[in-house]
Amino acid sequence: MENAILQLCYLIGSVTFILGLKMLSHPDTARKGNLIAAGGMIIAIFATIFLYENEEHMRLHNYGWIFGGLVLGTIVGTIAAKKVQMTAMPEMVSLFNGMGGACAMLISLVEYHKLSIILSQKPDYIVDKGTLIVIAIGMLIGTVSFAGSMIAWGKLNGRIKDRTIPGGQAINFIIFAGLITLVILVVGGFFPTTPALFYGILALAALYGVLFVMPIGGADMPVVISLLNSFTGVAAAFGGFLYGNPVMLTGGILVGSAGTILTMLMCKAMNRSLKNVLIGSFGGAKAGAAGASKEQGNFKEISLNDTAVLMAYAQKVMIIPGYGLAVAQAQHTCHELEKVLNEKGVEVVYGIHPVAGRMPGHMNVLLAEADVPYEKLLEMEDANDQMGGTNVVLILGANDVVNPAAKEDAASPIYGMPILEVEKAEHVIVNKRSMKPGYAGIENELFFRPKTSMLFGDAKKVLQNLIAELKQV
Ligand code: TAP
Repeated sequence: MENAILQLCYLIGSVTFILGLKMLSHPDTARKGNLIAAGGMIIAIFATIFLYENEEHMRLHNYGWIFGGLVLGTIVGTIAAKKVQMTAMPEMVSLFNGMGGACAMLISLVEYHKLSIILSQKPDYIVDKGTLIVIAIGMLIGTVSFAGSMIAWGKLNGRIKDRTIPGGQAINFIIFAGLITLVILVVGGFFPTTPALFYGILALAALYGVLFVMPIGGADMPVVISLLNSFTGVAAAFGGFLYGNPVMLTGGILVGSAGTILTMLMCKAMNRSLKNVLIGSFGGAKAGAAGASKEQGNFKEISLNDTAVLMAYAQKVMIIPGYGLAVAQAQHTCHELEKVLNEKGVEVVYGIHPVAGRMPGHMNVLLAEADVPYEKLLEMEDANDQMGGTNVVLILGANDVVNPAAKEDAASPIYGMPILEVEKAEHVIVNKRSMKPGYAGIENELFFRPKTSMLFGDAKKVLQNLIAELKQV
């Protein structure tokens, strides 16, 4: 009976994960989806703690350790999630993902150790090869994910600099071949006689995780984190196999596949292959040099007053948010501008590029935080369709996602990336602090084009002043 309740709890857990994931795909339902999946996870955890029995019909009993860990983790997680800045979100995701990888690694270590003890007590105990494979591969993937995520975290918060290691790819290949050899040896007969081989997997996988992420450009980290996220999911699914735990299996598979799909989508939106992200240096230390010094001619500036007049008499304004808006934390002020314009009878929409900002859905989350109605956020294709009927485009801290070089300059590193075609509108106003390039490290010819006017300054300050000016018009 209790086992039936346990399985039912696992079923509920699995269903909530699937439902939650589905709901996460829309901003209106994302918060609820997250809560539903978290609720399912709580049910699964408590059912395991109080109802799970192992083959010897023993229940979990180290309640002090279990609840100590749960309380500590809850406190640390809650404080971290509440305090994190929007711009630091990718590094937090990386850190949490690393913890997932570490869990998978520890599960494999514990299970290996457990099998060794059983064998020392019952020498004729037959160890299932499948279990050994799952332990060894779970250890490999979990450790790579843990070590890689920690490096990604260090890079994103600036503690670790991008570093290209001479012959890095060849070294990584040799390490990877070494890892596969070790797994084959451990599973093929060297368990339990040579534990050093198993710990060799741990050491080599940690080294592989570090060397694999180290040369990747800091700004390419979201793609890498998403990939590592899928690794953690797969490692967790291996844990599910090991314990015959369906909810762990479902959760792991969902994370693994969602992470893979997201990685592919991000690459597609940047028009780059995964291989190019992993071994190319675009967005890394060298990228800043590319094209940055190209002579572009003159740009013209616009005053706040002229901007206010232009916008007040427009019928339709499209705001294009980018990474700079997140840096300036200007989302609330931006929403205020939208309301002031609406009061003046101006229609305001937002053009959202899929990789604007530094993480998937960055702009959607940022604007949702400021209560911008979701219907006003146009996906890139719709935004481009409406561009022709737009009087003023206001670009707030965006750069690469509006760079015409992506369409016109075959030599540009971003050539082929779909962009927001702002030049189809009547006027283009670009707000940023200087003429410095964005993430890709390349000049933006848009700033020098006849339709474009530059409005320099920090996005939040500029918006505050613009609102004040608009109220005078
Ligand atoms: P970027 O091209 O990085 O440009 C952001 C601009 O914001 C900069 O040129 C900067 O110019 C300006 N800025 C910074 N702080 C500002 C502030 N306080 N006020 C006003 N402006 C400020 O951003 P984007 O257009 O959003 O493009 C995103 C880039 O990231 C793309 O190349 C994309 O491929 C890449 N990327 C995105 C993702 C995801 S999933 N979103 C993942 C990996 C890579 P100043 O310094 O002159 O102010």
